[in-house]
Amino acid sequence: MAYGDAKGYVPLREAIAEYLGAARAVRCEPSQVLVTTGSQQGLQLSAQVLLDANEQVWVEEPGYPGARQALMMAGVKLVPVPVDHEGLDVAEGIRRARSAHGVYITPSHQYPLGVTMTATRRMLLLHWAMRSGAWIIEDDYDSEYRLGGRPIASLQGLDTDARVIYIGTFSKVMFPALRLGYVVVPKDLVEAFSTARDATDQFSSTLYQAALADFIREGHFARHIRRMRMLYLQRRTALVDTIRQQLSNKLTVIGAEAGMHLVALLPRGLSDVAISLRAAEMGISAMPLSSCYTKPPLVGGLILGYGGTDARQIHDGIRRLAMCI
Ligand SMILES: Cc1ncc(COP(=O)(O)O)c(C=O)c1O
Repeated sequence: MAYGDAKGYVPLREAIAEYLGAARAVRCEPSQVLVTTGSQQGLQLSAQVLLDANEQVWVEEPGYPGARQALMMAGVKLVPVPVDHEGLDVAEGIRRARSAHGVYITPSHQYPLGVTMTATRRMLLLHWAMRSGAWIIEDDYDSEYRLGGRPIASLQGLDTDARVIYIGTFSKVMFPALRLGYVVVPKDLVEAFSTARDATDQFSSTLYQAALADFIREGHFARHIRRMRMLYLQRRTALVDTIRQQLSNKLTVIGAEAGMHLVALLPRGLSDVAISLRAAEMGISAMPLSSCYTKPPLVGGLILGYGGTDARQIHDGIRRLAMCI
């Protein structure tokens, strides 16, 4: 019931460090793990500690609007860098802003397109960061749920120069209302992050941290991930099959290899915003892909989440979506 440590509840930090080492090849000691209220706070703290107003930061184009918001609140200048089939185009980033101070990136499962960054691009990015002294803010928000292909290790695990801030969350793997996540920071930044956290909202609820630490230590967390991976695989298959049956002439599915969402590209000329609004009226949540771009894209699309939707709802939802389109 008393005040807790700004860095987080020690048994939870230990459990997270052990889990990240085994599952994500993150190299860290528990002392480098700080518990947050989710990725959003991890991003906010990173911006506050590492970046000054008007400094340039690369962001993925398209990219996660939440990250852009956090970075913009810190007053930094966003430099959109395109994402292609290999992930962030590092060479283009260098062309646009070689001396940027940081980059925000989702290399394991790019949000929203679902691309996995190739090894070549990872090495290029690390090399650029090392040479220019830039920070890499790695958001590994849903990498637990790889549904096909081999698991991909974190960028943090490849970093030999302490340039990567690794951000994770329990929002996807558990549930968003828990509001628990973490940042893994280089050793010499632990105190600065801890001070920033203390000044913001002191610390995360000890009760939830203690319950989660037990949940992980007693093996429930690992079992939960295994069970949910099977469930999401079934739901992903149901969604892809239903789109193929009912909307193959209108929607092209991309990025369905991992996570809990996929992108369905629309034919040129159709407005994803208009379709999304129409779908919302019919009780379907389908975020417009264009909302993840800083400039309007040539092709629109819909971001379709399937984590909380069973096969029957998916079938019914796609039938209604077809009417909207
Ligand atoms: C790319 C990305 N990062 C992080 C999150 C989760 O944020 P938080 O941990 O603040 O709930 C999401 C949720 O949709 C996301 O898409």
